[in-house]
This record gives sequence, structure tokens and C-alpha cells, in this order.
Amino acid sequence: MRVEILRTRAEIRKRVRSLRRVGESIGLVPTMGALHEGHASLVRRSVRDNRHTIVTIFVNPLQFGPSEDLAAYPRQLEADARIVEGAGAGILFAPSPPEVYPEGDATFVTVEGLTRGLCGQCRPSHFRGVTTVVAKLLLLASPDRAYFGQKDAQQARVIRRMVLDLGFDAEIVVLPTVREPDGLALSSRNRYLSPEERTRALALSRALAAARACFASGERRAKALLEQARRSLSETPGVELDYLELVDDETLEPIDTVSSAALLAVAARVGPARLIDNVVLGASRVVAAEE
Ligand code: PAJ
Repeated sequence: MRVEILRTRAEIRKRVRSLRRVGESIGLVPTMGALHEGHASLVRRSVRDNRHTIVTIFVNPLQFGPSEDLAAYPRQLEADARIVEGAGAGILFAPSPPEVYPEGDATFVTVEGLTRGLCGQCRPSHFRGVTTVVAKLLLLASPDRAYFGQKDAQQARVIRRMVLDLGFDAEIVVLPTVREPDGLALSSRNRYLSPEERTRALALSRALAAARACFASGERRAKALLEQARRSLSETPGVELDYLELVDDETLEPIDTVSSAALLAVAARVGPARLIDNVVLGASRVVAAEE
């Protein structure tokens, strides 16, 4: 089956209306393209759960800061279409910016609170861009379920909040982070790394694993867990830390002691790339179980 590529709001609306008329379920997988196995895992789960899967590819200008990598962000629709097809989805929505942001647009969606900490500190308008575009995609595709990765843990929680607050009739499914065999979390931005930088980037997952081992051996004090991760990170030069924080898995508020699930999240610059990663300590109520 060839994947059907739709480009305009009118096309996607028409297609969705025809699926809805016959009562068929729809899964939505929003992406910015440059697809990898992490994205493919979301698509496969959607294909399993829903009659139809719509994958969207849109490099969303609104979520990039002025000094970020919007222009450099990889764009490769042909290769992406093959990955979407290989993962079993039938519909690819790849709009141009004016289809998403009509000339003179003035409507935005903002989630407060959850967007203040972690990545919100160094990327102040980022989540406003994410929630605005995801709200638009949810309106256009009216899915039964939409799929997001735990790799972007704060984003997933912000989107869950928006969907609850605005009353979107879609279940938000958050799936585990897909990693390389050596632990590096898959990311479209990994392709900015030279082989040497890629080796340095392993410091992130290694630090999280060190803290997780410490947690597994019974440590519950945030200070000690963070210290463990920080010590591990400091062993690798050339990893410029943005933040390393231990927060509640749902509220994203900093915690002193891990009682229920906690999110240990890190962001750092390695060469030209800003990388993020996280682990949940304890049993997450947000992340769905592996397939
Ligand atoms: P993008 O970075 O392309 O990611 C699309 C989806 O894939 C997100 O839900 C992200 O969390 C998930 N993902 C990325 N890497 C992953 C990995 N290693 N394992 C599992 N899932 C992974 O996130 C965005 O795009 C945008 O902000 C978007 C939601 C599309 C809004 O523009």
C-alpha cells in the first residue's frame, strides 16, 4: 500500500470526514520528520490500536526560538514517507507553514505551570508553539488516540494537560523512549553530532542510568540521586549542562524525596546539538507499558 500524502487542511478534513462517516477509528502521530525508530514505534502502536493512522510531518516554526535550528532542521519527506509506510500507516499529512498558520494568524494555545520549569526555562516560547500546533492537528484529524514519546517527557505532560483542559476527545498515549543499543536516546538531532560528539552524548544516558542504579539500591533522597548523576556527567568533558532535575512525574514540581514516580530529566549541549533525556524512577502513571 502506498502512503497517501495530503498537503492542505481541506484535503485532510475531507479524508477525516469520510473515515468518520463510516465510524472508523483514527490514530494521530505528530512529528517534525527526519523519522527514526522512535517515531516508528509510535506509528506501529497507533497502527495496532486504530483502523487508520495519520502521521503528520511539520517542522513547526512556532516552537523554535530565534537562535535555534529551524533552518538547519533536517527535511527529507521521501525517506520519511517510506518509514511511515514501512510502519504500516496509510496517511501522511505534510502541510506547508501557511496551511497551519494562515497569514495574519493571532490565535495561540498556552499551558501555564507545567511549562515553566525544565525546558521552559531555556526555551521560553517553545511549549506555546508545541501546544498551538498540536491543538490544530487534533482539530484537523479528530483522532481517537494521539501518540507521543516519553523522550519529550515535559511535552507529553503539557499536551495531556491541554487535552484535559480544552476537552479534546482524544486519548493521549505516551510510549517509552527508544534507544540505541549503547543507551543513546534516538533523536532527529543526533545527526548533528560528529562521531566524537556522539560518544560524548552517551554521558546523558549514562548519568541517568547511574542515578537509576542508586534508586534501585534503595536511595530515595533527591540530593543523593542528583549527586550521583552529576558526578557521572562530570566525568565527560564537553557536555554543557542546561539542567539536571528530579521532579514529580506528573506535576513536574521539584521533589526532595522520591515517594511515588519521579522524573529525572537532563538537557545538555554537546557540540552543535541540544540533547534531552530522562528516566522515571518508580512506576509512571503517564507512560504506557512496552508492547
Ligand atoms: P519530533 O521531535 O519529531 O517527535 C515526534 C514524536 O516522537 C514526539 O512525541 C517525540 O516524543 C517522539 N520521539 C522522539 N524521539 C523518540 C524516541 N527516541 N523514542 C520514542 N519516541 C520518540 O516532538 C515533536 O516532534 C514536536 O514537538 C511535535 C509534537 C510534533 C509538535 O510539533
